[in-house]
Amino acid sequence: MSQTGNCSACRPSALFRIGLWLFILAASVWGGRWLRATMQDRAAEAPAVASVEESDSNHSARAEFLYHTLCAKCHGPEGHGDGEGITELAQRPRDFAGDRWRFPKTKESIRQVIAEGIPGTAMPGSKQALSAADVDALADYVLVLAERPAPHHASADARRSPSALERALEAAGFRPVPPRPAPPLTVVRTDGEPLSLAELQGTSVLLHFWGTSCVHCLTEFKSLHELENIGRMRIVSICIDESEPESVEAVGRVYAGDHPLYLDETGLLAHRYQVQTLPAYMLIDPHGRLVANRTGAGAWSGNAVSGLIDQLTEGER
Ligand code: HEC
Repeated sequence: MSQTGNCSACRPSALFRIGLWLFILAASVWGGRWLRATMQDRAAEAPAVASVEESDSNHSARAEFLYHTLCAKCHGPEGHGDGEGITELAQRPRDFAGDRWRFPKTKESIRQVIAEGIPGTAMPGSKQALSAADVDALADYVLVLAERPAPHHASADARRSPSALERALEAAGFRPVPPRPAPPLTVVRTDGEPLSLAELQGTSVLLHFWGTSCVHCLTEFKSLHELENIGRMRIVSICIDESEPESVEAVGRVYAGDHPLYLDETGLLAHRYQVQTLPAYMLIDPHGRLVANRTGAGAWSGNAVSGLIDQLTEGER
């Protein structure tokens, strides 16, 4: 007698299914533990990396550094609860910028949560790993993130067709991301001239992260000249592996021609913009919102980029 179409021997037995569930359960518990453990290791390293004096701007720079090293993995770079580690968590952290917090949105309560953690959840307590001053600074930083505007706000762009923009982004080799205000950015040109993103409002900006030890980055400067010739878009090339202007010039200038080269003096930009591979490109629209990224070296199409800038500036004219 044949059993075509319904092979009972092929179905997982109840025992096997229970085993599978146990495995998944163990894996997710282990994932949470692993995240906690790495976070505690990093906390132990943190003071050595950024030993700073007690001043207001250092207080917040250190807080931002600690946040990116210890918290962003789960809470996301801007605190929207979208860190890369959340796939391993049983529950997703809430958006700091949203209204639905579990605990009061006050400094005292946040400090308590950071120090003690939230028992029964993946939120780890840090009082063993961090000094009271660091917990304090982190609580301030969480409040800063909580007050930043929410990622989506429809306004002038309701008129623009998102799919047309998305098509233009993809044609130019970009990966569209949900538009959100670009993280703060201040850089310094190799001749000492500072530049901030705020000065570039009203223009499309291509942030170009590169490194002196990245061969692809260096050879790609040539095609960036062609993009620059199209005009109407500001290309800001930021070196993230050297902090001395002379070293950036010594290597970069050979390839970059007269293209301006910038340095990240804070060392925080790669964290803020989640740069993982070089070269990395982040596209900011004239409203100051991050709309897409692109990683790795590749051919640029002048026509596709022109079309894209048309899309981005539509409604500006
Ligand atoms: C392993 C992942 C993970 C890490 C690392 C982590 N958190 Fe959390 N955090 C969570 C989760 C999950 C919650 C939500 C728990 C719940 O369901 O209430 C949370 C909740 C919070 C809350 C409470 C928000 C509310 O809704 O009331 C604050 C504040 C917070 N975290 C701050 C931080 C800070 C600051 C750091 C870094 C020092 C950090 N967290 C590190 C996962 C994490």
